[in-house]
Amino acid sequence: VLGDRPAGIESLDWEDLAQAVAGCRACGLCESRRNTVFGVGPARADWMVIGEAPGENEDLQGEPFVGQAGKLLDNMLRAAGLDRRRNVYIANVLKCRPPGNRNPEPQEVAQCEPFLRRQVALVQPRVILAMGRFAIQTLLQSQEPVGRLRGRVHRYEGVPVVVTYHPAYLLRNLQDKAKAWADLCLAMDLMEGVDA
Ligand code: URA
Repeated sequence: VLGDRPAGIESLDWEDLAQAVAGCRACGLCESRRNTVFGVGPARADWMVIGEAPGENEDLQGEPFVGQAGKLLDNMLRAAGLDRRRNVYIANVLKCRPPGNRNPEPQEVAQCEPFLRRQVALVQPRVILAMGRFAIQTLLQSQEPVGRLRGRVHRYEGVPVVVTYHPAYLLRNLQDKAKAWADLCLAMDLMEGVDA
């Protein structure tokens, strides 16, 4: 039944949360998805990376950021000494692929956000890297462009948030890669307790 999202998401444990996502039929995306994409990484991690929504490869494999953008993300994380299976939790705002990779609709984000909120509460990251417009809008409730929000520390549910460009954008705009690296360095500084 559409509109059917389990109540009490804010008190689910990790396993029940994953199951709730897998069975979610709260919006129309459940009709076209092949797999839900919950997230990847250890259930407790110092770093959390948040993207937009599964694309075609993610929908097929049930794992976030496994396509071209994911390769760039992995390389950037590796340069920062991080590994997706070891010390960073990666998730998206939406757990299901929008058809043809169209932009998420506001009501899809609204239905899905409680899952992300609960993931953040359970993972208890020390820093969140919000990548791209939709992650930033969702976490910060801000319509400002990435370029206006980067370079300083924001908060979501008490957790420090650093914003940066989406890796899919960076693939098309190589000139902004240096800025994305600076954003990652800001997050690394936070983790090391350097005053940002
Ligand atoms: N883009 C995203 O925002 N998330 C993914 O998982 C893949 C591509």
